[in-house]
Amino acid sequence: MSRHYHIATMGCQMNEYDSDHLGQLLQAEDFKPTEDPHRADLILINTCTVRDKAEQKAYSLLGRMIGLKKRKPGLVLGIMGCIAQQKGSALIERFPGLDFVIGTKELETVPRILEKLTREGGRVVAADLTKRSMFSSANPGYFKDRVKSFVTIMEGCNNFCSYCIVPYVRGREVSRLPEEIIKETEKLVEQGVKEVTLLGQNVNSYRSGESQAEGGFPSLLRKLNNIEGLLRIRFTTSHPKDLSDDLIHCFKDLEKLCGHIHLPLQSGSNHVLKSMKRGYTREHYLELVENLRRVNPDVAITSDVIVGFPGEKGGDFELTLDVVKKIGFDNLYSFKYSDREGTLASAMEPKVPSHERACRLQTLQQLQKGITLHKNRKLVGRRVEVLVEGRSKKGNELTGRTGSNKVVNFDCESELPGDLVQVRIENAYANSLRGEFVH
Ligand code: 5AD
Ligand code: SF4
Repeated sequence: MSRHYHIATMGCQMNEYDSDHLGQLLQAEDFKPTEDPHRADLILINTCTVRDKAEQKAYSLLGRMIGLKKRKPGLVLGIMGCIAQQKGSALIERFPGLDFVIGTKELETVPRILEKLTREGGRVVAADLTKRSMFSSANPGYFKDRVKSFVTIMEGCNNFCSYCIVPYVRGREVSRLPEEIIKETEKLVEQGVKEVTLLGQNVNSYRSGESQAEGGFPSLLRKLNNIEGLLRIRFTTSHPKDLSDDLIHCFKDLEKLCGHIHLPLQSGSNHVLKSMKRGYTREHYLELVENLRRVNPDVAITSDVIVGFPGEKGGDFELTLDVVKKIGFDNLYSFKYSDREGTLASAMEPKVPSHERACRLQTLQQLQKGITLHKNRKLVGRRVEVLVEGRSKKGNELTGRTGSNKVVNFDCESELPGDLVQVRIENAYANSLRGEFVH
């Protein structure tokens, strides 16, 4: 009888990519995937520690899985991802029932760990951050039902923004070779994938070892743009301090590059940006947005903002609201500042009281809700190109996304996932658009 694995993935796209990578390794060991943890012989929780809320959510899921294990003693339980990297063996001590902990660079060791556990029993911790992780290989068949997929182009971060745990759990920046990235993308395309999202904590500082002109991120994009059968390219995340003119021009020159950029602002106050160690000013950020829109007036811009960073005064927050109004983001992900152990900001004072952080978050989210709806409504009556992803959850509608990454639902009998179709937008809502199929 074959063994089943279940991976619960929390957090960002990097974790989703890692879960897929591990899934491929496990399938090569004759494991079969299951969505149902009760059916699994092996459960892995892929965790995120970017904010305290994410960390607590992971512990509560782990607690439930340990409960499951009490009823099924043969079950093997592992934890991976950013909490695993940060806490290592402390997790083994804290959670009886947990069989193994693997750090962010240890995916390849899982088959050996499983073998060791079967042979000798015991518990294992592997969390060496200095290892060069091997990345995924797009095994034949694994992606056959997918229209879109991620491709990691670089890992880690050298920026050490003062609030951020990422450099401590993902290590220093390492870029993959362009030929590896191209090969992986071609293999995905062979399996039917039409859209890839290139992943990295800071894709703008991608460097393949050659000169910046030849080996930088824009040059990689140009190479990927030539892959036959690939319809769309996206990337995330860009750091404003490294967003070059060359990259901005890619939004005009490369027909497969989608008209959407995620460009985290974090704050609209220069004083806060400085203590965040972001390396740019509000004026510079506004200039980047102007340059992007000059090159492509329809480019969608989304962003991240942290409210209540230590020392953020009411006036600083007003400056953030001001930038958000001036720019009019297509969408904004906003978060209450959360202390992360070991980061510079966790030692900074004064901390903004929790109720004040909550209040600022609500004000910002209310403002953005109106802006998002306004942006979506501006599309009513316009014809957009949609990459069909499948049938929507409710009813018989097809669902897909525009190049600007907005969800569009529409009625159509015949089009299949993976088709690029034209849709006229009829209605706009806060999180999606509805349209009529044109052809
Ligand atoms: N507190 C709150 N938000 C954070 N982010 C990163 N670290 C923290 C923190 N300590 C947010 C940033 C980042 C996004 C992925 O998460 O906005 O861009
Ligand atoms: Fe964190 Fe800053 Fe690196 Fe982004 S750029 S991962 S916010 S340290």
